[in-house]
Amino acid sequence: MARATWKSKFGFLMAAAGSAIGLGNIVFFPANAYKYGGGAFYIPYLIAMVFLGLPIIVMELGIGRIFAKGLPETMRKTAGFKGEMTGWFAILNSSVITMYYITILAWVLGMLFLTIGPLWQGVPVPEFGLTGSEGRGMTHFFDIITNYKTLLLVVTVWIINILAIWRGTKTIEKIVKVLVPTMWIMMFVIIFRGLTMEGGFEGLMLLFTPDLSILSQVDVWKGAFSQIFFTLSLGFGIMTTYASYLPKKSDVINDGISVTFMNCTFEMIAGIAIFTLLFVFSIAPKASSISMMFFIMPDGIAQFPDGTVIAFGILFFSLLFMAGITSSISLLETAIAAITDKFALKRSHALLIVFAIGTTGSIFFALPTVIDAKLAVDGTLGLTLLDILDHWAFSNGLLLAGLIETILIGWVFGAEKLRNILNETSSWHLGVWFDILIKYFIPIALIFILGSGLIKEFSGLYPNKPTGVHNLEYFALLFWLIFTIGGSFILAKMKGENHA
Ligand code: TRP
Repeated sequence: MARATWKSKFGFLMAAAGSAIGLGNIVFFPANAYKYGGGAFYIPYLIAMVFLGLPIIVMELGIGRIFAKGLPETMRKTAGFKGEMTGWFAILNSSVITMYYITILAWVLGMLFLTIGPLWQGVPVPEFGLTGSEGRGMTHFFDIITNYKTLLLVVTVWIINILAIWRGTKTIEKIVKVLVPTMWIMMFVIIFRGLTMEGGFEGLMLLFTPDLSILSQVDVWKGAFSQIFFTLSLGFGIMTTYASYLPKKSDVINDGISVTFMNCTFEMIAGIAIFTLLFVFSIAPKASSISMMFFIMPDGIAQFPDGTVIAFGILFFSLLFMAGITSSISLLETAIAAITDKFALKRSHALLIVFAIGTTGSIFFALPTVIDAKLAVDGTLGLTLLDILDHWAFSNGLLLAGLIETILIGWVFGAEKLRNILNETSSWHLGVWFDILIKYFIPIALIFILGSGLIKEFSGLYPNKPTGVHNLEYFALLFWLIFTIGGSFILAKMKGENHA
């Protein structure tokens, strides 16, 4: 069967931008910026965008267009067994991220339902010793995460995802063409509202009075690097898969630049919007994304005049939900493409397998707090299991997948060869600097960042965590290692029936 293709270039661009623009842009970015020096974080972020983000997105799109296959199969063609294993590793690692990402989306959906009315009055949550007077969004969030109904929301979000990719590019394209432009409009409404409120502009100025001393900290750079990978959906195999549905002569250099531009502008605007709003309401931001999304912002929104509260609540949570769905579907499509490229399976069967495994995983992330609310107690709402796996899959896994992928493509397939092929069909020509970035700069930078992080890690595993969760930490790490490394080894070893 011929591989599906996008109906239009616009459809592809919206799909890729929809994947890139997600919770990462609206909440993780401001939370990270707050954690790593406020406005100063924009500097390592922009440097990471230019030197890591742009070359890697062009590389991932490029190999997808050239080989017209999902990531494992593409990597097998460029670098044999170790290539294929890297491809599966990227997909399994991002599946872990997707599982908790969808759990978070289920909470977003819960909050969205509640925005109509009850969200803005507190509710008592005895499990946490909350009487209901503590803050408005906050008590509701605790109520949602400790409620069995949440599991129903998790399943609902999974069903929405599966339906959205049911017929692959056909259904995806229809959805993203509407949602992505809508998200932009909504973001503009939010920022306009923030800047025109009294004090909004000062908030902005504060953000741009940066503390430059943070630039000497390795953690800040690691934060910026991970953020760029996550926000541009790199190290997931997504860009390769989406580009595999492009016509042969497409100009992916141009596309990579457009997607990066759309995503990063959205992100920097979102950062400004969130900071001005919080400043106006004199609420301190939090370094934890979960707190930012579920109680800091709702508490801020609750301070709007009565008539605006509900409208703004709906605006914020539906924006989060749309941004999240257009991202999660991109990874599910990536996994489905990888499976059906290798095994002689019907698409509907592959969808069912992914649905079954994924829903179970997402329920695992939601369940601990439903069963025992105390597991979530650690000041910033540690949601322990989610936190630990996020630490491995997000902060280390994406960078590791990106590192090995870049080395294999740069050295085995050849950065120069890739550049020459892509230049043939592009109005923008990549220079020798592209080879230098892919072959030397990016691998060295990633090895340094990953290595120094790991040294710190094992010289005192999680120094700030409360005691008593260490067993869970080791268990979760072991699970992640077996699932990603063990799983990718087995999948790469298996005999494919569709190998061309
Ligand atoms: N780029 C997305 C963001 O910024 C992250 C993302 C893309 C993602 N695809 C995903 C996360 C699939 C989980 C699953 O939020």
